Amino acid sequence: MVTAALIYANGPIHIGHLAGCYIPADIYVRYLRAKGEDVVFVSGTDEHGVPITLKARNEGVTPMEIVDRYYAMIKKSFEDFGISFDIYSRTSNQTHHKTSSDFFINLYEKGVFDEIESEQYYDESAKQFLADRYIVGTCPNCGNENAYGDQCERCGTSLSPTELKDPRSTLSGEKPVMKKTKNWYLPLDKLQPKIEKYIDQHKDWKANVYGQCKSWLNQGLHSRAMTRDLDWGIKVPLKDADGKVLYVWFDAPIGYITATQELLGDSWEKYWKDEDTRLIHFIGKDNIVFHCIIFPIMLMEHGGYVVPDNVPANEFMNLEGDKISTSRNWAVWLHEYLEEFPGKQDILRYVLTANAPETKDNDFTWKDFQARNNNELVAIFGNFVNRAVVLTHKYFEGRIPGRGRLEKIDEDTLESLAQFPSKIGNSIGSFKFREATTKLMDLARLGNKYLADTEPWKLIKTDTERVGTILNISLQIATTLGIVSDPFLPFTNAKIKRILNYKDLSWDNAGSPSNLADGHQLNEPELLFEKIEDKTIEAQIQKLMDTKKENAETSGDAETSPQKELVSYDDFMKMDLRVGEILTAEAVPKSSKLLKFTVDTGVDKRTIVSGIAKYFKPEEMIGKKVTVLMNLAPRKIMGVESQGMLLFAENADGSLKAVTPAEDGENGAVIS
Ligand code: MF3
Ligand code: ZN
Repeated sequence: MVTAALIYANGPIHIGHLAGCYIPADIYVRYLRAKGEDVVFVSGTDEHGVPITLKARNEGVTPMEIVDRYYAMIKKSFEDFGISFDIYSRTSNQTHHKTSSDFFINLYEKGVFDEIESEQYYDESAKQFLADRYIVGTCPNCGNENAYGDQCERCGTSLSPTELKDPRSTLSGEKPVMKKTKNWYLPLDKLQPKIEKYIDQHKDWKANVYGQCKSWLNQGLHSRAMTRDLDWGIKVPLKDADGKVLYVWFDAPIGYITATQELLGDSWEKYWKDEDTRLIHFIGKDNIVFHCIIFPIMLMEHGGYVVPDNVPANEFMNLEGDKISTSRNWAVWLHEYLEEFPGKQDILRYVLTANAPETKDNDFTWKDFQARNNNELVAIFGNFVNRAVVLTHKYFEGRIPGRGRLEKIDEDTLESLAQFPSKIGNSIGSFKFREATTKLMDLARLGNKYLADTEPWKLIKTDTERVGTILNISLQIATTLGIVSDPFLPFTNAKIKRILNYKDLSWDNAGSPSNLADGHQLNEPELLFEKIEDKTIEAQIQKLMDTKKENAETSGDAETSPQKELVSYDDFMKMDLRVGEILTAEAVPKSSKLLKFTVDTGVDKRTIVSGIAKYFKPEEMIGKKVTVLMNLAPRKIMGVESQGMLLFAENADGSLKAVTPAEDGENGAVIS
């Protein structure tokens, strides 16, 4: 039973969503299906909660209009990118309302909830309680003045409204009052031992996931309300609960169950209640606590359900060095990508996997996108398949030639081929999708090397039989490449299938030396991938630059990028920062970006290269005092070894200012 997070239906989706959750989930499921496993893959939109009602309010439309619009849009994006859900459902469905209500009642009747009357923030002018994102204030942890009532997006701390300093209503901007209300709480504090036992059985989980669970447990869990005083959501199914709905994080994960029910009718239970079922949740890191702690506890307290077996959450994908943000329009939107790169879904699938934020946050850059396409997909993968097919057409009218006597290189290559499917499969099975793509590319490399070593184009004049053997083996490799690429590059596999003219080969066939019989007819070659030109990439980068500029113009301060993750004092003290003085400055030949400096660091006079030529002329830098990071590992840039780094402040419009130490700081003075 594989699930992918039910995303809020309050906006279109971007590369961060794909990279964090949906592509890994799809790779995993396609692989299991190819292996013949009994697998169900569900997802859908999360249509309740404050993110939806706030969006509706901003636009002056009903929440239903918002979720209808984005459900359709999100569903289409996933289809376009080949994310192969068995069902894409939504939590506004009647089935879901019933399933969640029943679940709530079940826990209620078992006495799981604490019924607590407490004072909560209330907006008198809007006549509404201010839960979650209806309230903002100053984060007690990092001082962010726009922290939400449920979470500070700057430092990531989970909050409750009463923890905010200087709270304000997002509805009226006014200071809220306190008002009594009753809600039903899941006593996570009391349930902590149970959940600890469960988490301790899962030391096999990814380090980032297990680590986050442990840190929550170490801080001690708090009781959490499972109902809200709101009017959008699933009505609390109790008599004295008018004007109250289920907490969105109570109903949303139950959506996985509902989707399975909608898909399978009565046979849904097998996938949720059978001891042998493995339940796997694919999510982004901001959802870890809900899937590893709250939902498992709900399932355990209900009884009869399996609990999540693994939750392979990814970290975040940034974009060109900045956190992806809907409000700042700092994103690559899937629907826009498809307009600009029609038919090129697999490139994005590949790049987002090869560079997936599996163990830490990662950065998507257009340059890397171009490089991976041109140097890997085109030059290695596409090139190999194309050469094998084109040569077979040229020498054998597109019919698979039979194999003659095998030489050592043939035997070695076939032996190596046979091992690839399990190598790739093992990486996928253990959620190491980056590693799996490296191995996939290695298989294409094997094919290229084989052709380069055997040089059939030279032999054709003298030894047709030998050429037949070589092309036969090359096409067997291409076939396996097709089969094992399907999880990653389903559109490309469809093309390979068409070109090689085979149907219905499963993962078990992969690696076989005889998937294509002698005399089998190939179809005409088609290019699998095309080179992406510099100007295409420059246009994308320009588009982002324009966004940055617009943001800077419209919203001054709000544009500062969020605080980075905390570092320890010891980590900080590892950096050797000093006052330096620029003695000489010159442009680096053939580079439009780089300047080369000699810097007097007090300790020595050293060369440092900086990518600032767009912003400063060499002569204006001479004599400037600068802050030098001394112990950055030396690096060769355009043939010049740079021994350290100069620090600059980057403004929102991209312009730079040198970080100048106190005017009379002596060269070599340590900054700390
Ligand atoms: N709506 C949440 C988000 O977009 C994810 C919910 S996942 C769930 O972050 F299934 F549990 F619903
Ligand atoms: Zn904060």
